[in-house]
Amino acid sequence: MGKINILSKDTFNKIAAGEVVERPASVVKELIENSIDAKATEIYVEILEGGEKLIKIVDNGEGILEEDMRSAFLPHATSKIRTADDLFSIVTMGFRGEALSSISSVSRVLMRSKAVDNDGREILVEGGEIRYEKFSPMDQGTLMEIRDLFYNVPARKKFLKSPSREGSIISEIVSKISMAHPQISFRLMVEGKEVLRTYGTGNQKDVIRQVYNKKVYENLFYFENHYDSFSVFGYIGNEEISRGSRSHETIFVNKRLVQSKVITTAAEKAFKSFATVSRFPFFVINIEVFPEIIDVNIHPQKAEIKFEDESHIFKSVFGTIHSAMGEGLKDTFAIEEEEEKESFVQLRHPSASAPVYIDIPVDTMKPVNAEEFQKKEHSETVSHQEAKSYESDAGLDIRIREEERPMKKAYWPEDSDESSAKTAKFPMPRIIGQFRDTYILTEIHDELYIFDQHAAHEKINFEKYMTEIREGAVASQGLLIPEIVDLDLEDHQLYLENREVLKEAGFVMEDFGDRSISIREVPLFLGKVQASFYLHEILDNIRNLGKGNKEDVKHLRIATAACKASIKAYEPLTMEEMRHLINELRFISEPFTCPHGRPTLVKLTEKDMQKMFRRIV
Ligand SMILES: Nc1ncnc2c1ncn2[C@@H]1O[C@H](COP(=O)(O)OP(=O)(O)OP(=O)(O)O)[C@@H](O)[C@H]1O
Ligand SMILES: [Mg+2]
Repeated sequence: MGKINILSKDTFNKIAAGEVVERPASVVKELIENSIDAKATEIYVEILEGGEKLIKIVDNGEGILEEDMRSAFLPHATSKIRTADDLFSIVTMGFRGEALSSISSVSRVLMRSKAVDNDGREILVEGGEIRYEKFSPMDQGTLMEIRDLFYNVPARKKFLKSPSREGSIISEIVSKISMAHPQISFRLMVEGKEVLRTYGTGNQKDVIRQVYNKKVYENLFYFENHYDSFSVFGYIGNEEISRGSRSHETIFVNKRLVQSKVITTAAEKAFKSFATVSRFPFFVINIEVFPEIIDVNIHPQKAEIKFEDESHIFKSVFGTIHSAMGEGLKDTFAIEEEEEKESFVQLRHPSASAPVYIDIPVDTMKPVNAEEFQKKEHSETVSHQEAKSYESDAGLDIRIREEERPMKKAYWPEDSDESSAKTAKFPMPRIIGQFRDTYILTEIHDELYIFDQHAAHEKINFEKYMTEIREGAVASQGLLIPEIVDLDLEDHQLYLENREVLKEAGFVMEDFGDRSISIREVPLFLGKVQASFYLHEILDNIRNLGKGNKEDVKHLRIATAACKASIKAYEPLTMEEMRHLINELRFISEPFTCPHGRPTLVKLTEKDMQKMFRRIV
């Protein structure tokens, strides 16, 4: 007798089922996808004991014809494709005709369904065997009840996690699928409790709010872009809602929940160029693509897909998200120059005894610009030396000895003759003090000026660094121990393309075999640094510039990235340090905004104060 056995139908089906049905959540996913394919607008899901005991799905879709009730459970039985050619024009979630046959071979399935102009029918299938089929009146739609999952495959059962863990895997998958289909109303009951409800408003952001929370909802940037063969749109969260894991990263391709390394990397890289912490972003990315240019048939649970041109997808996702975040962050900081509002003081605790807290609307604090000072004839052409006497004239008791307290971590090259003769853009204010180790409070005549010390510092560094780059005179520091960095394929490519530009900006590197490079010199103003951190920041910042971009655009990006990365939050400053910082700021060419366009200083007038305290109305 030969050694080759022909497996029984039962064994074969169980093996096939193992591919499709890994755990209860896979059943839930397959059944929901069937409901979606049936054009349901309402889908109800209920599970007991993590789905092992019961998974129930009810939809109001097209239903199944009376004569198709049995064939739905046969292997390779599908109404969705006819031939292999159709595989490349798939617009439905299902196409293999495997799910029901697989599920029913490892559980007991009761299915009731009614299609239009048909009678409702009910069928019970246990371990792949049809037990009965009968007439059963009902409304149009389909009900599926899957009981005792894996009752006949004990080995599979052993691999399941606790019911609560399986329950949360199911919740996660239902939540994610519901985001891809905002026009469908979903309801999920886990162990008798409603855990999710969406309302079919058609708006994805509404569903995100239901699935996550208000905080997530309020910290999202929308992005959208259209290309020849596909579109990208969705939401990316700011740093506030970033995570320590990838759990809040969701990708849909033609509404199918998939994992995709290319898309994930593109989105994470775009996020990283704006992040100050190393965490994973929140995102929901939707890609709508012509079915011809993807292959959905490469994974048993259809959880992965293959794109014809991965690098195009990468660039598009990166570019779309990167520019949306850039824009979004800019808007966040833009301060509108609105007219003063009539009542800008809100009393939160109006009771007599309680202290009164007031909200100062952002637009009460005005950003400052150069004209303002010119108008008031504050402008003066003075050297740094004169600036000091201006201050003494104003009766301040701070004696400044520059060499005594150079500002910590800051970059203060010797004043050059040229800068000494520059025009101060605003008068030296009287320093009142520091607030929250972040803001410097000062006054000039009857106005209160508040400086964002980090924005100011960043801008000073930025301007000096840019000047040095332009003049080909970047002050660099050699690293005692050169830092070796392994770059990924893409970063290495980018580094090779920009080696010269980086060198001009004070980053001197050498090839170190393979995709490793050794960083030998970095700009002086960065101080003691982990050079690779800056390199990554910079590469990310120049990544989505087209090849044709001029050097100076790249330099600008490099300087922006390096300066941003060099600034740390919260730093207590002495009076001298504050004065020094502000004095430096006065002499740069554009002191009123940071490199990202946010204000470096804002003001509040005496009149604003009087209004706030209701001395005047
Ligand atoms: N909820 C439902 N409403 C209407 N028809 C359904 C429903 N569920 C299943 N069907 C019918 O049963 C058939 C078999 O379903 P099954 O999930 O096994 O295969 P499929 O969806 O065609 O492909 P895949 O295996 O890729 O999911 C479907 O093609 C569809 O015609
Ligand atoms: Mg299916």
